[in-house]
Amino acid sequence: MSDPIALWHAEHVNFATLLGLLEVELDRFHRGQAPDYELMLDVMFYMTHYPDVLHHPKEDLAFARIAERNAGARSIVAELGDQHTMLKQAGNALVVALDDIVNGSITLRDHVEAPGRAYIAAFRRHMDTEETKILPLAATLLTGHDWAAIDRAVRQLDDPVFGKAADDRYAALRRQIARERRAEDG
Ligand SMILES: [Fe+2]
Ligand SMILES: [Fe+2]
Repeated sequence: MSDPIALWHAEHVNFATLLGLLEVELDRFHRGQAPDYELMLDVMFYMTHYPDVLHHPKEDLAFARIAERNAGARSIVAELGDQHTMLKQAGNALVVALDDIVNGSITLRDHVEAPGRAYIAAFRRHMDTEETKILPLAATLLTGHDWAAIDRAVRQLDDPVFGKAADDRYAALRRQIARERRAEDG
């Protein structure tokens, strides 16, 4: 898939899948059942090591080029850029809270449940805005030359969950994604 807009959208679909898995675990939590904390940590570790490290920085560069060419888009891309910072902070805090639980420290349910739900809601809203307001603009404003320059400027990193170079750290998460997909297909 070399169409940058299609690739952009495909990453959003992947992130939405993981947010869905996280939400299932938070629902268990809410019902007083034992959630899979390792899985929640895997999701959040990924969110802070792929979207925060590659997807969002790449978007920030695309946003800057869009804002240069379309003054009307300036306030929305500024807002989305701020949300990248906020999502990164909230994501890192969740990694710390989940890591504490997985490693046996006592962490209050409130440290995970409310922030987890807020993170999911904010991330979904963020992607919705990008999908409806920014991707169509990018499709008309950004050229192959722009995308090549953006790619050269960001650290190249293969997606460790959905990409070809599968990282063993995420083996359990990938199995869970495959199970969910089979359940949806069946
Ligand atoms: Fe974004
Ligand atoms: Fe995005």
